[in-house]
Amino acid sequence: MLSEARAKNASMGITGHLLYTEEVFVQCIEGPPAAIAALWESLQRDDRHYELQVLAKGPIEARRYQDWSMAFSSYPSLNRFNMPGFFAVDKEGMNAEAERCAQADA
Ligand SMILES: Cc1cc2nc3c(=O)[nH]c(=O)nc-3n(C[C@H](O)[C@H](O)[C@H](O)COP(=O)(O)O)c2cc1C
Repeated sequence: MLSEARAKNASMGITGHLLYTEEVFVQCIEGPPAAIAALWESLQRDDRHYELQVLAKGPIEARRYQDWSMAFSSYPSLNRFNMPGFFAVDKEGMNAEAERCAQADA
């Protein structure tokens, strides 16, 4: 799923971060508005999701995940394959990459 999403995101100019803890995904998606709207439609069509919610939306000064078509943070045990762009969460289920998503825009 992640490698397909990354390829599609790269082709649409989307970057971001996906956090997976306690059976919940929190995703930060950044890019051109039309690409974001198209991805949002895809996410809504995907029946692997339920209870999809937008937590915040708006213009940003600069991308927070410039280098990642979708960085992924989760439990260290999920990184058996040493995938690029994987960031282990700490005991609270957080890390610096995930926190960047919640930053107020400067
Ligand atoms: C938690 C989660 C996150 C996803 N994130 C992305 C993403 O960032 N980009 C993407 O293209 N697809 C993502 N997908 C897959 C989409 O839901 C969808 O299956 C895919 O974009 C194909 O959409 P389409 O049927 O409209 O072509 C994600 C799926 C899940 C379950």
